[in-house]
Amino acid sequence: MNIRDYIEDKKKKKQYEQFSADKYVKLFEKDSKTFETIMTYYECALMEAETKFKVLNAEFELTREYSPIETIKSRLKTIESLVAKSHLYNVKPTFEDIQDKIEDVAGIRVICGFPEDIYTVADCFLQQDDITLIDCKDYIKNPKPNGYRSLHLIVSLPIFLEHEKRDMKVEVQLRTIAMDFWASLEHKLKYKKELPADINDRLVEELTECANSSAELDMRMQHVRRQIEGGTSHIDDAVDLQQWM
Ligand code: GTP
Ligand code: MG
Repeated sequence: MNIRDYIEDKKKKKQYEQFSADKYVKLFEKDSKTFETIMTYYECALMEAETKFKVLNAEFELTREYSPIETIKSRLKTIESLVAKSHLYNVKPTFEDIQDKIEDVAGIRVICGFPEDIYTVADCFLQQDDITLIDCKDYIKNPKPNGYRSLHLIVSLPIFLEHEKRDMKVEVQLRTIAMDFWASLEHKLKYKKELPADINDRLVEELTECANSSAELDMRMQHVRRQIEGGTSHIDDAVDLQQWM
């Protein structure tokens, strides 16, 4: 959806007046060509990142007869979300400012079978000499208070255009199927409706317990796999991702 369509859509839904960023949207609209270019570059960065994970998976299948990656999902931030986030973080509608301050315009989610696969895949990805790790948040070792678990990497990688090479940021979220199952449902439930505080608190607690149960299940399944494979792990237990920063 382009900026003009977005505004028309908002007007139709009578939400436009309520959208505090209306003046801001107009700034983007004035330079819609720049915006289109930005989104295209981020889309290219997503293609590059996705290919890297597919290549790794293909090699694992070849050498270990095993696929650490179950699914890869890519998403480009919607215009609505980019404009809202830019407004929130006081980001100018220029390529430089967006590139500098917003790290999740291009997002890729890599879903693995077992927790240890996450670190194997992340490690192989970060070892590549055109990838620069900008930030790493390990919500698996340190889950969020609500129970959310995933490994988040902000990386920079080059895209090769007709006349230039451009470094683009991509947010990579690596999770197990169980972590993804929980995060997807929690995300849906979170936006459902306003509930009385006591009920809300109870449900938040319930969801945290669900996250912990599902993390326990992840570890049990990993344990089963290790037993089947005679106690060998696919990785050294302690891959230190900080080494890539
Ligand atoms: P923003 O990028 O502005 O959201 O802030 P941040 O960089 O501090 O966020 P963080 O890296 O912790 O999380 C970014 C993304 O992770 C979100 O956009 C979600 O996709 C996912 N995420 C983080 N926390 C949660 C959570 O509690 N529940 C769910 N379902 N997803 C989460
Ligand atoms: Mg973020």
